Amino acid sequence: MKHTYPMLTAEEAAALVQHDEIIGFSGFTPAGAAKVIPTAIAAKARVEHAAGRPFKVGVITGASTGPSLDGELARADAIKFRTPYQSDKDLRESINAGKTHFFDMHLSLLPQYVRYGFLGELDWAIVEAADVSVDGKILLTTSVGAAPTFLSKAKRILIEVNRYHPKELLGFHDIYEPKNPPNRRPIPLVNAEDRIGTQRVWVDPKKIVGIVESNRPDEIKGFTPASDATTRIGQNVAGFLAAELRAGRIPKSFLPIQSGVGNVANAVLGAIGAHPEIPRFQMYTEVIQDSVIDLINADRVSFVSGSSLTVSSPTLQTIYSRLEAYQGRLLLRPQEISNNPEIVRRLGIISINTALEADIFGNVNSTHVLGQKMMNGIGGSGDFTRNAFISIFTCPSTAKGGNISAIVPMCSHMDHSEHSVQVLVTEHGVADFRGKDPRERAALVIDNCVDPSYRELLWHYFKLTANGHTPQSFRSAFAFHEKFLETGNMRDATF
Ligand code: COA
Repeated sequence: MKHTYPMLTAEEAAALVQHDEIIGFSGFTPAGAAKVIPTAIAAKARVEHAAGRPFKVGVITGASTGPSLDGELARADAIKFRTPYQSDKDLRESINAGKTHFFDMHLSLLPQYVRYGFLGELDWAIVEAADVSVDGKILLTTSVGAAPTFLSKAKRILIEVNRYHPKELLGFHDIYEPKNPPNRRPIPLVNAEDRIGTQRVWVDPKKIVGIVESNRPDEIKGFTPASDATTRIGQNVAGFLAAELRAGRIPKSFLPIQSGVGNVANAVLGAIGAHPEIPRFQMYTEVIQDSVIDLINADRVSFVSGSSLTVSSPTLQTIYSRLEAYQGRLLLRPQEISNNPEIVRRLGIISINTALEADIFGNVNSTHVLGQKMMNGIGGSGDFTRNAFISIFTCPSTAKGGNISAIVPMCSHMDHSEHSVQVLVTEHGVADFRGKDPRERAALVIDNCVDPSYRELLWHYFKLTANGHTPQSFRSAFAFHEKFLETGNMRDATF
């Protein structure tokens, strides 16, 4: 049956959204995020607030989004709760001031949380698309994220058809949604390249209440050029993987790589691509950053599967100018599949993520600055780390000009425990925790990874307590953090 959809302005679409409703927005990073409707909702919130009326909505997305969504809504004080991940400065401030409720979630779990009804009923799915057919087939743009679940579960749908993205994107998505227990089946994906679903998301066209047209690029920031420290971290990771290959612990054909987000991750991937002993490899990851496209162009990466194409505008334009060259080499999947623990373990993924802070026993904090302030969220790092063939964490050994040691006696917040973290890498070296007890781990970390200006202090801490499988001193475990808050320098710590 043919449906024509009402064409709306962004303001007309926003007028339909009411206070207290829950919205599932497309977007996994700023890639593919709804843009014009959330900005119009923020404007509506400001008008409502000025008139003395309450206006806040629950905001669920795939991961982080761009300034037109998180930034606008946060500045308009229009977010009632937010999940599962964010990286916007204004939203972060609102979260850390206790004004916005933020649930930090493993990204693979978000779609099933929505399907199970754990987050309440979705009133709206507001989704960016490259095209919508009259029979309700939606061609997504540069990300999939949780959009298919939002579209199937929401009571009503608004689509932003963004003309910036070509309809020739057809074929770059693989949409598959698992059934809920007790009817779930094994996910039939056994190679990183397998296609298991449809090219478009199929919805009941009667749920689409309007289409807003736009022409807006994704709002993706460029990366800081690699520093000396990030370059050395990259070289250390690549050297470690090459040694594993030589030792026969990684097959000669190599294993798919997952690489995290941010500046460190970008530099690490570049170094792996440049290592002469590491063969051409595949990636089964979450976020496809510029460095991955560089490696495809250099024929170092043969195939990449992810949930978003989070690349700068010039890189996206290069891809769009010769899309056919990337067919069969680049595939976008729902986050429930890109980050799926069952698949991560089956494929034998080598995961590489970034820590804010690690402790000498190998526990990792990816999310909370000094244990209190939310940075971005756990993202997909837990989905991959817990289930990887080899799980690696990287970080520069210090932050804030050396006044913070990223390696501390005890993590001030814990996202990944010693049970899941196998290897820690800084610019100084590698600590391989496999088969090592906590005391052996601490010695490796202090000798190989810690900045020299903190080594003596950490040895001193380690020797404070003689007993126990994991020798910790409750009195001194947070001396580094306390001292930083007091004097601005962790080196002043005393035990
Ligand atoms: N204590 C306090 N601040 C610290 C710190 C520490 N131990 N370590 C780093 N920082 C600060 C840095 O100084 C920097 O601050 P600035 O922005 O004011 O300069 C900031 O944290 C980010 O550091 P940077 O080195 O630029 O890191 P990045 O861009 O590589 O991002 C994470 C690192 C951890 C924030 C990022 O990878 C992340 O959010 N990870 C969690 C989600 C995830 O892993 N997803 C991947 C799954 S696919």
